[in-house]
Amino acid sequence: TSTPVGVTPLMGFNDWARFTCSAQARLDGTTAGYSFQQFMEDQAKAMSDTGLVAAGYKNLTVDDCWMQRNSAGYLHGATNWGSSSQPGFDSELTAYADYLHSLGMQAGLYTTSGVNTCQGVPGGIMGHEQADANSLAYWGIDSIKLDNCGTTSSNRQSEFTSFANALGTATAGHSRKILFNESAPAGAGPASATKYQTMDWVRGLGQMWRVSPDINVWHPNPADSWDSPHAADWYEGGIYQNFTDTVALARYNSPGNANDADMLLIGDNGQLTLPEQRTQFAVWSAMGSPLMISTDVRKMAADPVTYAPQLAILKNADIIAVDQDALGAGGYLASRDNASATAGIDVVVKPLAGGKRAVTIVNKNATATNYTLDLGRVGFGNLGCARTAKDLWNHTSSTVTGSITTTIGSHDNAMYTIDPGNCGGATATGMIQSAQS
Ligand code: DGJ
Repeated sequence: TSTPVGVTPLMGFNDWARFTCSAQARLDGTTAGYSFQQFMEDQAKAMSDTGLVAAGYKNLTVDDCWMQRNSAGYLHGATNWGSSSQPGFDSELTAYADYLHSLGMQAGLYTTSGVNTCQGVPGGIMGHEQADANSLAYWGIDSIKLDNCGTTSSNRQSEFTSFANALGTATAGHSRKILFNESAPAGAGPASATKYQTMDWVRGLGQMWRVSPDINVWHPNPADSWDSPHAADWYEGGIYQNFTDTVALARYNSPGNANDADMLLIGDNGQLTLPEQRTQFAVWSAMGSPLMISTDVRKMAADPVTYAPQLAILKNADIIAVDQDALGAGGYLASRDNASATAGIDVVVKPLAGGKRAVTIVNKNATATNYTLDLGRVGFGNLGCARTAKDLWNHTSSTVTGSITTTIGSHDNAMYTIDPGNCGGATATGMIQSAQS
């Protein structure tokens, strides 16, 4: 028997947004003998020590630069990390995967659909699809992210398809299946005919796919992590831009299928204020996106008092439950009263199992704002009937009739799960909104 993978959105860690392919030191600043593999194992141990693994963040993915190819064409761990002199990974990744499994975690790797990765490492699958898939299965790898570099719209679908088939062959009869994480739709850019065609085929091949730009990796101005102008720098998205691009594709989410809005900048990254970190977490969960942390978890483990607010965000079980809800729906935009990232209120609704709905109200204004949300707007009828609303940040429940009124700080949010009780669930109108969003 095999365990299905990716039924709920993936949760874990990916090193890319925070660390890219630059050399890393121990927390005390020393580097002698410190390999990037040890760095990743230290992040894994920190995930376990902070309780993040217990909270559900089980996957640890190393992104670009971990690999090299030997003269016989086989994939191995890179001797050096990126272009630095830092030692990279073991040649065989078995011990690395075993270590993660010993912590109750899963091992994720990265590759690309062409010959060279985006960082120029000649370790992409093209021409090696089956051999590479076999290596992953042999090492005990649990997930693979397949990037776009090296393919174009003319050969991307065939490369992604052949790798999906190779993964199936490599794991046939194995209990450990490999989750397939596809970057293809992000490479298709903003909404277009190519984007929608790409969405149509990735859905049949894998469990999750990137639909929006790289979240603020190289952005020159960290303050722009909230709002990075779309047209000017498509590949350096702020959280508002990735939210906007992803929420528009809500209909593609279902159990085993997740739009990936890219990594969480919650932790020591220093790019988002605490309210903005809360809002990224709320909105990503409201969309049913994978929740992949990209931060220095070692620092949070070493100083859990300083990082208590960030750990509390990441471990908010009520909000994680919205993300991981069994219905597998994507959250849709019930209203956006101003297109700007820095004015107005956005309301995101995620239908949940049992007729419940998660409602997230985001205040984009520069000041705290009082807001009243009519429950008709989020798809409920019979508005005179009292329902229970649970505040997912304060963990308190109250009775609401027809509307919710709250005060929300700048760039912060309010988030509720509304239980229909005996009032009846969402109206047909609400379901139609969901299908059309
Ligand atoms: C582009 C992807 O979108 C990023 O997430 C990351 O994987 C880089 N490539 C690595 O080069």
